[in-house]
Amino acid sequence: MPRSKIAGIGKYVPANVVTNNDLTQYMDTNDEWIQERTGIKERRYAHRTEETTTTMAAEAAKIAIERAGTTAQEIDFIVFATLSPDYYFPGCGVMLQRALKMKEVGALDVRNQCSGFLYALSVADQFIKTGMYKNILVVGAEKHSFGLDMTTRGRNISVIFGDGAGAVVLQPTEKTDQGILSTHLHSDGESAEILAMYNPGTHANHWGAQNYADFDDAPIANMFMSHAMIDNAQNFPFMDGQSVFKKAVVKFPEVIHEALTANGYQSTDINMLIPHQANLRISQFVQAKLKLTDDQVYNNIQHYGNTTAASVPIALCEAWEKGKIKEGDLVCLAAFGSGFTWASALLKW
Ligand code: ACO
Repeated sequence: MPRSKIAGIGKYVPANVVTNNDLTQYMDTNDEWIQERTGIKERRYAHRTEETTTTMAAEAAKIAIERAGTTAQEIDFIVFATLSPDYYFPGCGVMLQRALKMKEVGALDVRNQCSGFLYALSVADQFIKTGMYKNILVVGAEKHSFGLDMTTRGRNISVIFGDGAGAVVLQPTEKTDQGILSTHLHSDGESAEILAMYNPGTHANHWGAQNYADFDDAPIANMFMSHAMIDNAQNFPFMDGQSVFKKAVVKFPEVIHEALTANGYQSTDINMLIPHQANLRISQFVQAKLKLTDDQVYNNIQHYGNTTAASVPIALCEAWEKGKIKEGDLVCLAAFGSGFTWASALLKW
């Protein structure tokens, strides 16, 4: 059975740099608080009207496709991870198929938030290994800036997130010392509401709901979105940051160890760990727990913020572009986020 390898990788971040100081125009926050708690100095925000999750994904994908030595016409499947799609439906996969003028190939959307790219990579890996497809485009992209509460009320979340996209092209390889060695996927829905955006949704009364009495006499279709939801700021993400932190620092090391053990490696064997850029403090905790040196871990949250499904491919691409990942290196990708879901992938570059 062939393994799949990352044949090409690309990233795109919008030109607009938003510093921590820039955010003080909108909310009561400050550079010191944000840097101390999250490590973030600045993030990128997409152009409000000219850039979407799909347009950013297309830019990253074009680079990945070119570096893979192929063309958009040769791609035979798309897996697209995002929590901030252009439309509620259809998903971004078909938008990307259209944007890149691709053949009528299958396009699958993955909604696994921070671990979305790793779930997408895992799905693509199975299709390559079984021989079903030979050239799969895997994308993680987010336009968070469009949907954040940019007031003091939303500051604990809004300062963390940024926009961007990353993409890889997976192809089969017959080489025994190259490619994706294994992927490991997990979930625990018990804490689904700890990091979530409840509305719009079909949960009716269960979470994030206030004033649902308003709906008693309304046709059911009107419960999806209402003025009351917007007035009560229920259309923004919610996060219990401390609970997320506590779970993340357990599950990140656990899923990394799982990948290493499955392949007979130890943490000292890792040449490069690319953790989902959730929060620099979480990455530092994971690094210390695994006893890794600064050279074994790549972080760029300082400059891009948390770009959710895009963060792993953006960081992987940047580390590779800087020459920090070389052929034959053992690379570990790991992510944890909303759901909760968490995942890892171990690969030989
Ligand atoms: N600027 C200034 N003050 C703020 C801000 C802000 N942006 N946000 C919150 N505060 C204030 C609060 O109002 C509170 O003030 P009070 O003590 O007067 O009430 C104080 O800071 C502490 O607030 P907490 O919410 O308790 O802050 P905490 O110390 O937990 O830090 C943080 C928040 C950084 C989110 C932390 O919980 C954390 O690191 N959590 C991990 C979760 C995470 O990183 N999520 C990333 C996205 S999810 C993912 O990718 C997995």
